[in-house]
Amino acid sequence: MATIGLIGAGKIGSQVARLAVKSGYDVVVSNSRGPETLSGLVKELGPRARAGTPTEAAKAGDIVVVTIPLKSYRQVPVEPLAGKVVIDTNNYYPQRDGHIPELDNESTTTSELLQAHLPKSKVVKAFNHIYAAELTTDGRPAGTKNRRALVIAGDDLEAKKTVTRLLDQFGFDTVDVGPLEEGWRIQRDTPGYGPRRTAEELRRDLAAARRYADR
Ligand SMILES: NC(=O)c1ccc[n+]([C@@H]2O[C@H](COP(=O)([O-])OP(=O)(O)OC[C@H]3O[C@@H](n4cnc5c(N)ncnc54)[C@H](OP(=O)(O)O)[C@@H]3O)[C@@H](O)[C@H]2O)c1
Repeated sequence: MATIGLIGAGKIGSQVARLAVKSGYDVVVSNSRGPETLSGLVKELGPRARAGTPTEAAKAGDIVVVTIPLKSYRQVPVEPLAGKVVIDTNNYYPQRDGHIPELDNESTTTSELLQAHLPKSKVVKAFNHIYAAELTTDGRPAGTKNRRALVIAGDDLEAKKTVTRLLDQFGFDTVDVGPLEEGWRIQRDTPGYGPRRTAEELRRDLAAARRYADR
């Protein structure tokens, strides 16, 4: 069975780690303060989990999830992630992240920034529009009526297939919004950002999304 590396083990990272362990994956969790600060989480997750540095999590993961405050994205290790599927959960909050001009003027998107930092990785945007707590309460088996859906975006089709399978194992349908540059359709303050949605509802929300400047 594969290993999922987590760079960031806060609200979203710890929840993704819980889903991963429940689905039979090994996990390596990491944060900025060091593996010793993650002993409580590792104990809770059990024998499939260990803590490491971000570089160790990046090296160990077959799939690696980057789930940190956006302002720190340049600290994500580059070389150990080359060739790998990297899931990006990050959102832009200027009050937390400081102003990033190319996001303020929407000439790029958050996940494209991470992709540019990790040019040899296959970045897939996912998990950015669901509250952390709901990751472990809202999942349902495949085929359940009105199953909750989550959006993905990415430039690599195989990587998106991998993430779609992972989301299905975690209990969610997937709506593919297209390449990374379309990820703005599910950014902060768009209709699909936050509420529980089926795939059909999410598609409507994505079509109704407006650029900040057009509102
Ligand atoms: N919370 C939500 O419901 C939610 C939902 C969807 C998306 N998101 C987005 O997902 C990302 C993570 O959110 P969160 O709520 O999980 O944040 P959080 O609870 O504040 O956790 C952030 C994690 O990132 C770690 N970290 C910070 N800088 C790092 C670095 N340079 N290298 C490695 N790890 C680092 C932190 O470690 P230390 O504690 O050791 O610094 C912490 O484990 C954010 O971009 C957020 O906007 C959040």
